[in-house]
Amino acid sequence: MKKRLISMISALSLLFTASYGAEVEGVGKGYKGDIKVGVTYEGNEIKEVKVLEHQETNFTKRAMKEITKNIVATQNVDVDNVAGATYTSEGIKEAVKSAMATAGIVLNSKSAVKEEKVALTDTTTDVVVVGGGGAGLTAAISAKEKGVNVILVEKMAMLGGNTNYATAGINAANSKLQQKLGIEDSSELFYQDTLKGGKNKNNPELLKTMTDRSGDIITWLVDRGADLTEVTYTGGQSVKRIHRPTGGKAVGPMIVETLGNVAEKEGIDIRLESSVKEILKDGDKVVGVKVEHKGEVYTIHAKAVVMATGGFGANSKMVAKYKPELKDFGSTNSPAITGEGIAMVESVGGTLVDMTEIQTHPTVVHHNTAMITEAVRGEGAILVNRKGERFINELETRDVVSKAELAQDGKSAFLVFDESIREKLGAINNYIKKGYAISGNSLDELAEKIGVDKKNLNATMNKYNEYVKAGKDTEFNKNILPRELGKAPFYAIEVSPAVHHTMGGVSINSSAEVLTADGKVIKGLYAAGEITGGVHGANRIGGNAMTDITVFGNIAGNNAAEYSKNN
Ligand code: FUM
Repeated sequence: MKKRLISMISALSLLFTASYGAEVEGVGKGYKGDIKVGVTYEGNEIKEVKVLEHQETNFTKRAMKEITKNIVATQNVDVDNVAGATYTSEGIKEAVKSAMATAGIVLNSKSAVKEEKVALTDTTTDVVVVGGGGAGLTAAISAKEKGVNVILVEKMAMLGGNTNYATAGINAANSKLQQKLGIEDSSELFYQDTLKGGKNKNNPELLKTMTDRSGDIITWLVDRGADLTEVTYTGGQSVKRIHRPTGGKAVGPMIVETLGNVAEKEGIDIRLESSVKEILKDGDKVVGVKVEHKGEVYTIHAKAVVMATGGFGANSKMVAKYKPELKDFGSTNSPAITGEGIAMVESVGGTLVDMTEIQTHPTVVHHNTAMITEAVRGEGAILVNRKGERFINELETRDVVSKAELAQDGKSAFLVFDESIREKLGAINNYIKKGYAISGNSLDELAEKIGVDKKNLNATMNKYNEYVKAGKDTEFNKNILPRELGKAPFYAIEVSPAVHHTMGGVSINSSAEVLTADGKVIKGLYAAGEITGGVHGANRIGGNAMTDITVFGNIAGNNAAEYSKNN
């Protein structure tokens, strides 16, 4: 009976294999860990590749879709990597290869299906948005919701740009969440904190617009599905103002995924791997853009153009041109952030402001470009030098902390925290997984592993915990002292500064209209996000980039839509 049952099951599984193909699994190394795929095949043909398990960031989801689709379409594993998701692409390819080896599949390249080539023709729309990061997505959705046609072009193969890397959160005053939690804040206080952080160099009109509209932009995002349920401190803020996802997860990937889904649902025409080469002008009006997609160039005629291409933090030549002392510094930026949008705006008459104001982030993994979010310090982590001593108020602005670190022996420091901070901040789990953090079951063990004096590290921690108890840091005047650090295991990450944000860029007014050197509006041209300059002055406060890109993305989208209706 048992034998008959087994042979029936084998027959059924053969039948199943013949009609639907067999499935085999394979594993490859992605950016954050193993990626497991399931490959369905018939004979030597791959029918489907499914990603079964992975630890990659959400923003790579579209890249995974793209690469698995391309493998099946071309019957070739050595397809191009998705720009901006190289490790994920390589991990999937390695996993597919290992599955093929297990199943003995030998792909027949002669039967490879050619990648479908879409003929690109000149087209016309109301608003074209250039750049698919947080600013561009916000602008595109805002314009579309005003009832106009929108095309969004993004040069990379996936959406997100630098927003994919934003971690700590988004600052806002007078949000519903702050009100619910009884946090007393005002847009005036937010304005003053930001002005102080920016060394009084901020453009007052832009800063007032950002701070006044910050509470409403949180509502706008939450209404569209964003998870912003926690609020806490970040450097340079006098109250709890940084809004972040549940469990302290990274804010940027969540925003990109949320807005990406909204944009798709609302029928925005999203064109990836599409680089804008030129902004087109007819007389004194901007009338569209020239776009290149896989070697083909075509024109999108539009009544209004929104430039949201980001800053230039990944363009080391441009960084060194404007701030020579940052030559050879690493960068926390997406490789997409190369500043060509700034040059394009200049070439149609736009003017630039504050270009020499370039910020370094003080907690970037030493000799690496991975940023360790400021939220770790916001939750109470301390910075110690090689002697095991604190040397700065950890929540001073980024320029001050960066400078202090560079003055330490080895030009780096250790970011030290305990298990209670890890429990509070989901983002830390990724740092541990990636091997950035060294841990010890006691401070002595940690000190030994990182090579600092045990006695000093213990004394530093005891002193710090006394400050927390007393609510006063008499040494460095840190006024945010959320918790004592005493719960093992203890962790340390060696950190040093890297280029993080370019505060300068295209000059705009509070309507997000691009301005000429004599302050005139360039008709039909809008800009939002890190491509613009002025709002942050000489130093950006952590959490203000997300506020800037969404507030001005919203303004640019709304105004471009209105303009397109009347022109
Ligand atoms: O530290 C961070 O998470 C960075 C935030 C920001 O630059 O706004």
